[in-house]
Amino acid sequence: MPIDKTAKIWMDGKLVDWDDARIHVLTHTLHYGSGVFEGIRAYPTASGPAVFRLTDHMRRLLQSAHFFMMEVPFTLQELVDATKETIRVNQVESCYIRPIAFLGYGEMGLNPLLSPVNVSIAVWPWGTYLGDEALKHGVRMKVSSWRRMDPNVNPVAAKGTGIYINSSLAKVEALHAGYDEAILLNTHGFVAECTGENIFVVKDGTLVTPPLSSGVPHRHRRRDRPDAVGRRSRDRRARRDHPQDPGDLLRNRPRRGAAIQRVVGICPRMT
Ligand SMILES: Cc1ncc(COP(=O)(O)O)c(C=O)c1O
Repeated sequence: MPIDKTAKIWMDGKLVDWDDARIHVLTHTLHYGSGVFEGIRAYPTASGPAVFRLTDHMRRLLQSAHFFMMEVPFTLQELVDATKETIRVNQVESCYIRPIAFLGYGEMGLNPLLSPVNVSIAVWPWGTYLGDEALKHGVRMKVSSWRRMDPNVNPVAAKGTGIYINSSLAKVEALHAGYDEAILLNTHGFVAECTGENIFVVKDGTLVTPPLSSGVPHRHRRRDRPDAVGRRSRDRRARRDHPQDPGDLLRNRPRRGAAIQRVVGICPRMT
């Protein structure tokens, strides 16, 4: 989906015109995948756009940065205020919010500690992740031949830009095979998550979702899910044959707590 641009992007404390939000080709993160980011949504309300768990998201951004040994030169409160300011100035009723902290221009080489840490926050209107049709009719999923990165390979609890190459590979494999999304197993063969969202299985009236130890990012919002679908939620490891009944599977990319997308088909083969 093409980006629907807005007027301003917040960059290191200043609001700059959208088209001027540029970085140098020798930006460290561009070469080594060392950025950290968040995906947040603001929803329309009678009193203007309301951001869903803004402080929690920004806290997770700082935690992710910590995993990658990045010292973000802004406080949690400054990041929260900057986000609100960016939404205000762009006059959007609802939007997706993409904060990113990355290693900028200054040094090259694999030692990240020498590079400056830059932060930007962009907001723009962005529809449902897999499209409105997916919300209405559900999605068809494939168990990916790619495994979710192991926590001993990368700090997968963090939302690191480089880590997402794993998700992209699985996503493209699924699309090429004619599916909408992929389910990634971890290196032990247990279900981890989808390419850009959590996975929940309905078992005996309870929502089951893989625990952190399955190699998923920190999920501060899990506590919202039970309310959204009126069920209790439990962290439990799931084998790949666990979510075989598509009717039992919910793919969740939260929107005001939870947008639930029912899965209507799963291909278990890893081809
Ligand atoms: C790989 C991945 N897993 C899970 C999620 C859901 O995370 P949360 O609901 O905690 O923001 C996301 C969201 O961007 C994601 O990219």
